[in-house]
Amino acid sequence: MTPTIVVGGGIIGLAIGWRLAQHGVAVQVVDPQPGEGASFAAAGMLSPVSEAVFGEEALLALNQAAHARWPAFAEELAQASGIDVPLRTEGSLLVAVDEDDVRALEHLWSFQHELGLPVERLRSRACRDLEPMLTPRVRAGVRVDSEASVDNRVVCRALRAALRRAGGCLVHEQVRHVEIRDGRVRGVRLATGDTLPAGHLVVAAGVWTPTLEGLPPDAVPPVRPVKGQIIRLRFDPACPPLHRNVRAWARGWSVYLVPRISGELVVGATVEERGFDTTVTAGAVRELLTAAVEVLPVVAELELAEAIARLRPTTPDNAPVIGPTPVEGLLLATGHHRNGILLAPLTADAVVAQLRGTAPVPEVAPFGLERFGR
Ligand code: GLY
Repeated sequence: MTPTIVVGGGIIGLAIGWRLAQHGVAVQVVDPQPGEGASFAAAGMLSPVSEAVFGEEALLALNQAAHARWPAFAEELAQASGIDVPLRTEGSLLVAVDEDDVRALEHLWSFQHELGLPVERLRSRACRDLEPMLTPRVRAGVRVDSEASVDNRVVCRALRAALRRAGGCLVHEQVRHVEIRDGRVRGVRLATGDTLPAGHLVVAAGVWTPTLEGLPPDAVPPVRPVKGQIIRLRFDPACPPLHRNVRAWARGWSVYLVPRISGELVVGATVEERGFDTTVTAGAVRELLTAAVEVLPVVAELELAEAIARLRPTTPDNAPVIGPTPVEGLLLATGHHRNGILLAPLTADAVVAQLRGTAPVPEVAPFGLERFGR
C-alpha cells in the first residue's frame, strides 16, 4: 500500500495521522520536531464563546462544533495512548478592570448575547465569589460555564503515542519538496535528499506550508506567521490562584490566564506581525506580566518558569484551510491561527473523511482553499 504522508507534526498533523492509522491507513507523519511549534506554545483554551470575534460568525460555528467533539476525543485519546488527557471543565470568566475595559467587555457581551451564546453577566462581587484571588478592582464580568481547557503539550505527547500504537510512523525529518507528476502527488523529498513515496499527502505544516517547494501556485494557501509570545508561571497545586480560564481587559491590556491542575498558569499572548521572528522580548514579557498582575495580584509571587514565542499560521480571514487542492491526492489542513488546539479533533475527522470518501464533516465546507480564489 502506498503510504499517506502528513507533512507537519503539530497537533493538527498528529491528530490526522492518528485518525488515519486507526483506519488502517499506512501513514507517516514527517516533522523534524513534532509538537514543538505553535502547538507547544498554545494555552490550550477550548473557548469558542469567550474568544468570539465580531464578523467571524462562520468561524465561531466551526469552533463551537470543534468544542463539542473535545470530551469524546480526549477520552478516546487517553485510552488509545495510555496517557491521561484531562479536560478542565470549570469554564471561563471574562473580567474588566477600568471603565474603558468595562465598555470593551459590554460590547463583546452584547455580541455574544445577540448570537444566543450561553453567557451570563456578573457584577464585581460575583466575579470574586467565583475567583477570590482576582483584584477587588474587577468591575464587571461575563461567565461562560460551557468552556474548558486542555494541556496542549500532554495532548501532543498522547497523540504521538497513539499514532505509534495504531501502527502509524513518525519520521523526524524536514520535508523540503513536494513531488507532483501529471497533476498528481507522488511523494516528498526530504532535506536529506531522500524521497518518500506517497499516494496521498496532507500538508499540515502551519506557517511553513507556503515555503514547501514544488507546490503549484494555485495549491499554496495564503498563510502567514503571526507571532505569539506567552509565559508560564508555577504555583503550588494545593493553592491554585484560579480555577477557570480568565480573560481580562485590564487598563487597556488584554490578557488570558489558564490554570492547570499540575500547577502551571499560562499567561498569553501577544499577537504580532513580525514575519518569522521568534525572539522573546523583554517588552512583551513585561506587558503580559503587568496585565496579569493587574487582574490577579498574586501573579507577582509566582515563579516565572518559561517565556517563549511561536508562530500562528494565519490566513486573511483568520479561519483555517481544510480540504483538497487542484493537485490530485494533495490536501491542506493549515491556517488554524488562534484555534489550532480547539480545531484539531474536528480537522482530523474532516480530513480523514475527505481522504476515505466517507460522510463529510459539514462544518468545514466553507473553509476550503477555493474561498481565496485559488
Ligand atoms: N488562542 C490563544 C492565542 O492564540 O493566543
